[in-house]
Amino acid sequence: MRIDIITIFPEIFTPLDVSIIKRAREKGIVEIKIWNLRNFSKDKHKKVDDKPYGGGKGMVLKCQPIFDAVENIKKETPESKVILTTPAGILFNHKLAQDLSKEKGLIIICGHYEGVDERVVEICDYEISIGDYILTGGELPAMVIVDSVVRLLPGVLPEKVPIYESFYNYLLDWPCYTRPRNFRGLKVPEILLSGDHKKIEEWRKQKAIEKTKEKRPDLYEKYLKEGGIDDTQKS
Ligand SMILES: C[S@@+](CC[C@H](N)C(=O)[O-])C[C@H]1O[C@@H](n2cnc3c(N)ncnc32)[C@H](O)[C@@H]1O
Repeated sequence: MRIDIITIFPEIFTPLDVSIIKRAREKGIVEIKIWNLRNFSKDKHKKVDDKPYGGGKGMVLKCQPIFDAVENIKKETPESKVILTTPAGILFNHKLAQDLSKEKGLIIICGHYEGVDERVVEICDYEISIGDYILTGGELPAMVIVDSVVRLLPGVLPEKVPIYESFYNYLLDWPCYTRPRNFRGLKVPEILLSGDHKKIEEWRKQKAIEKTKEKRPDLYEKYLKEGGIDDTQKS
């Protein structure tokens, strides 16, 4: 997969150079390019923003450098889908991450200041928000999208890991424990020490259902609606 990010702060993206994403890049599973929006400005001072029409506070990112950046990148990767990070977008979730992971490429536009000129929406396939709060810029949302999408690409994680994580099938993950068995009187559930893998699997499934029902009733409802079975009442 190819991912291109358009930003006025290219230096922010160091988290994409560590851990799982770094390894995915090294293995050639994903190619990530960071583009400085200022390099596409036709202004002699490399200005990319201007005052809003109608007056008011803040500055707005201009159409020209963004359109030029996207058109330029599309020469290299014509099939890429264009994403605008914006609080007005659809809420990002696991399902959307899965859909995006099937695309050939993504071009992510990071807004800043008061946002981007509304006409930029015309060249976007998706407008995505990562939550109902305001961040300073689209750089953190872009990294959230990249991290969650890249994890889902074949070969990035060991084969079965993604299907054991939260949100797959709508359920939250089961509770995990590691050494020691007894920490300040807090004990690891006996079943996990039993060596009985079938029983452990059943216990984990049951705990995942209980946890989802308690903490995310909205997901629990979706789980049932999609045909998931809750036999936790039996035990
Ligand atoms: C300070 S925000 C602009 C907020 C805008 N004036 C508003 O009230 O909706 C600057 C940029 O950060 C990004 N941004 C901020 N919050 C976001 C969120 N929750 N999801 C996605 N992008 C966000 C967008 O790219 C946005 O253009």
